[in-house]
Amino acid sequence: MKKAYYYIFFLGLIISATSCTTFEIPEAEPLDPLGRKITYQEDIKTIIDNNCISCHGVSSPQAGLTLLTYEQVKESSKTRGLISRMNSSSNPMPPSGKLSQEKLNLIDKWKNDGYIKNK
Ligand code: HEC
Repeated sequence: MKKAYYYIFFLGLIISATSCTTFEIPEAEPLDPLGRKITYQEDIKTIIDNNCISCHGVSSPQAGLTLLTYEQVKESSKTRGLISRMNSSSNPMPPSGKLSQEKLNLIDKWKNDGYIKNK
């Protein structure tokens, strides 16, 4: 009987956790409550590939900024305001509008975890 209450509790947690998601399909696991470290390879690369390299890729990159490798993404986070541009309401990257809060959280945590490359 007690078990049933746990199931209901966790069901409630899942529903409340998903009820305010946006229309975008998540590209990475949500932040692990246990504090999993965020890595470029596992979490960040997909976000950049899907949202940035159409303009910051191989051919005539916008603002001369290429975001194809770990080093490029890390360096531009440190020196070219990549993370603050992604979080900017007035001048966001991508220009079409900010990504979901979930993805922005991943990028923030990637920085806070120390720009880890691989697991
Ligand atoms: C539709 C094209 C387009 C997309 C997609 C795009 N950008 Fe940009 N980006 C630009 C243009 C144009 C500029 C230069 C003008 C400006 O700074 O607003 C720029 C500038 C930047 C700058 C400032 C570079 C500097 O040194 O001044 C950063 C950082 C940046 N983009 C990061 C990103 C990131 C990260 C993404 C993906 C989340 C992204 N951009 C997606 C077009 C794009």
